[in-house]
Amino acid sequence: MIEPQAVLAPLSRAALVLVVTIHDGDDAASRTRDLCGDLSGLVRSVGFRDLDAQLSCVVGFGADAWGRIFDTPRPARLHRLPAIKGERHEAPSTPGDVVFHIRAGRPDLCFELATQILTRLDGAAVAVDETQGFRFFDFRDLLGFVDGTENPTGDASAEAALIGADDPDFAGGSYLVVQKYLHDLDAWNKLPVEAQNRVIGRDKLSNVELPDEVTPSSAHRILTTIKDDEGNEIKIMRDNMPFGSPAAGEFGTYFIGYAASPTVIEQMLRNMFIGNPTGNYDRILDFSRAVTGSLFFVPSLTMLDTLGD
Ligand code: HEM
Repeated sequence: MIEPQAVLAPLSRAALVLVVTIHDGDDAASRTRDLCGDLSGLVRSVGFRDLDAQLSCVVGFGADAWGRIFDTPRPARLHRLPAIKGERHEAPSTPGDVVFHIRAGRPDLCFELATQILTRLDGAAVAVDETQGFRFFDFRDLLGFVDGTENPTGDASAEAALIGADDPDFAGGSYLVVQKYLHDLDAWNKLPVEAQNRVIGRDKLSNVELPDEVTPSSAHRILTTIKDDEGNEIKIMRDNMPFGSPAAGEFGTYFIGYAASPTVIEQMLRNMFIGNPTGNYDRILDFSRAVTGSLFFVPSLTMLDTLGD
């Protein structure tokens, strides 16, 4: 019986995402491997203090790190996330060997687990990004829109995010794309709400989709709707987290997307940055700058735990 990691954990009040790169050398790789093999136990040690807070940690591996951690072949679709350059906006591709997506009902548990992880990795790996996210009221992002509505639920969420029996070597795994966006809230807040509604394709207050006849083809919800050859929608699981510092004037959205295939997320990104058709890009990007971007493979828990054997 193959058990996935906590990919499908419900949207939490708090999250902390750590992206690390592993130092050169076998010792650094083997210490990282040991930590990842012990991760389930570490999550139990920290999370048992308050089981209601449902601490979880999903760990994923970048293309360059896979062969240093696992002796099994690399998952077929794992590669470095390509940078995407549109006419106006660019999605960068930034380094990341291992990602830890930590979620809980309380920020202190996320903080404690991240501390324990980095203590174990001291001298073996270095954090290239740490983002502490919080759930904003009504599940809104810092642009003020309710974020996550169209996430699949129930069986559909597993179908969207987890690799099935068609790829038995990696069944129960998932592909994870993370990107850090910084918003220009001054400019965004100068935009009338009706215009903001057209950028997203939803009504800001009620969260109801705008009727198709008034939704521009550049709206975020249109450009991120991907269909297969039979016209069926291919969904992904998103767990975007607001983060920032009012004092520093930093307001952001940390995009977190899980999918059974990275092709779907990459198509969404091309639609957003290059546009569909070309030039018809996502106007969210006029107010949001992507500053990081990486792709990871999230093995099943069953596969991850073999690292500790
Ligand atoms: C929908 C915000 C980046 C994929 C939405 C919605 C909001 C939103 C408010 C509408 C409600 C919902 O269904 O969740 C943002 C913000 C982003 C961002 C603030 C960063 C600045 C991305 C990226 C992707 C993406 C990078 C994919 C690569 C989607 C998808 C939907 C969606 C698939 C659902 C579309 C539908 O089926 O209606 N997003 N998003 N988003 N977003 Fe984003």
